[in-house]
Amino acid sequence: MLPHGVQIVTVRDGDEFHGYTSSWMTQASFDPPLLALGVRADSRSREMMRKGGVFCVHFLAPDQEEIAQRFFKPATRAGNKLAGLEYEIGEKTGCPVLTGLLAYAECRIVHEWGGGDHDVVVGEVLAAKVLREGRPLLLADTPWQYGG
Ligand SMILES: Cc1cc2nc3c(=O)[nH]c(=O)nc-3n(C[C@H](O)[C@H](O)[C@H](O)COP(=O)(O)O)c2cc1C
Repeated sequence: MLPHGVQIVTVRDGDEFHGYTSSWMTQASFDPPLLALGVRADSRSREMMRKGGVFCVHFLAPDQEEIAQRFFKPATRAGNKLAGLEYEIGEKTGCPVLTGLLAYAECRIVHEWGGGDHDVVVGEVLAAKVLREGRPLLLADTPWQYGG
């Protein structure tokens, strides 16, 4: 019964880049601007967040399901999920910032809670940009489900 969007979250640990498809995400404060994410505790992305302390959220256009499909494959099967995609290096976090999507927000992790199969990770938005106008891809636009 919880409506969700579909986002791509990219992460960085040193020179290594990675990312996953996300839907458990909400704005959690205006000042400072915070985003709260539910992140699978045993995923590669979460491991890299623990080490790197940063992430970058991307909002997709409704016709960009294909990119989400690439990022929900686990690291063990997908290999380098960024291969062939265009990206720049985020000025604030060093995370990959994918070009051609609707918008992005670079975040530094300020709170983390564990306890279940997903951790709650709260990031402060350090930089954000709308790259082009349009509504974001919603989970309800897709054939996919992720709990809720
Ligand atoms: C529609 C959809 C939404 C998802 N939302 C989340 C999410 O909010 N949090 C999460 O940790 N995983 C979510 N996933 C699962 C991750 O994308 C998936 O576990 C990914 O393989 C993790 O990658 P990694 O182990 O390479 O980091 C979602 C999957 C799908 C298909």
